[in-house]
Amino acid sequence: MRALRRWCVATSFSAESAERIIVALDGMAPDQALAFSAQVEGLRWVKVGLELFVQAGPDVVAQLREQGLRVFLDLKFHDIPATMAGACRRAAALGAELITVHACAGSEALQAAQTAAVEGAQSTGQRVPTLLAVTVLTSWEEQRLQRELAISQGIAERVPGLAQLSASAGIGGCVCSPLEVTALRAQHPEPFALVTPGIRPKGAAVGDQARVMGPAEAMAAGASKLVIGRPITQAENSSGAFATCCAALMV
Ligand code: C5P
Repeated sequence: MRALRRWCVATSFSAESAERIIVALDGMAPDQALAFSAQVEGLRWVKVGLELFVQAGPDVVAQLREQGLRVFLDLKFHDIPATMAGACRRAAALGAELITVHACAGSEALQAAQTAAVEGAQSTGQRVPTLLAVTVLTSWEEQRLQRELAISQGIAERVPGLAQLSASAGIGGCVCSPLEVTALRAQHPEPFALVTPGIRPKGAAVGDQARVMGPAEAMAAGASKLVIGRPITQAENSSGAFATCCAALMV
């Protein structure tokens, strides 16, 4: 077992900027994910999503933590209150420090999830995680929400509404698109966390991300942390791409 990992070998970015960037280990097999995260210099945070977790199970969280990394467990829990609570308790006991839940689960489930996450961490000596509520998935469009789910509220109203529901239930932050950060930050000052995907450094391929922003702009708009996947994971030199993203933050 390796103790807390090496610190920023590259000198061109600060430890604080590395704390702000979460690299999404999407599309990787477990061995690949572990090998990748071990070789990116200065990496602090990784995001484990459904695909990797379903394949590798809780062990992958433990193995990443043994590398000295902090883990964002992005499993987007959405269920009845007792099940949400049980899942969040277990996730917190694994040592995940950011955990996603769906705001649409409702206030009772969100409160139960929050309480259980605190208990799960405290009873196992882990840091208390921050739960992050997902408001509206970026794959939804307004017309389809109306047509398929009879939701007539526009996304611009729905996102702040669900963020408010989550904050009132004691949830510590939201996942949001970079274009929603300014409005949500005005409504929810720090330490409410705003974690945003859809980040593209200058020159990176946009891919399937519809609404993107550069790393510095997203931070300036009020984001707490940025989730960046393919611009780093699929770069020829991932350490270099990570360092470039960190350096762009200038913190
Ligand atoms: O696009 P990138 O590889 O940087 O994706 C990072 C994260 O952004 C993914 O793990 C996923 O959670 C999220 N994503 C999104 N909307 C998309 C594509 C990805 O929010 N259209």
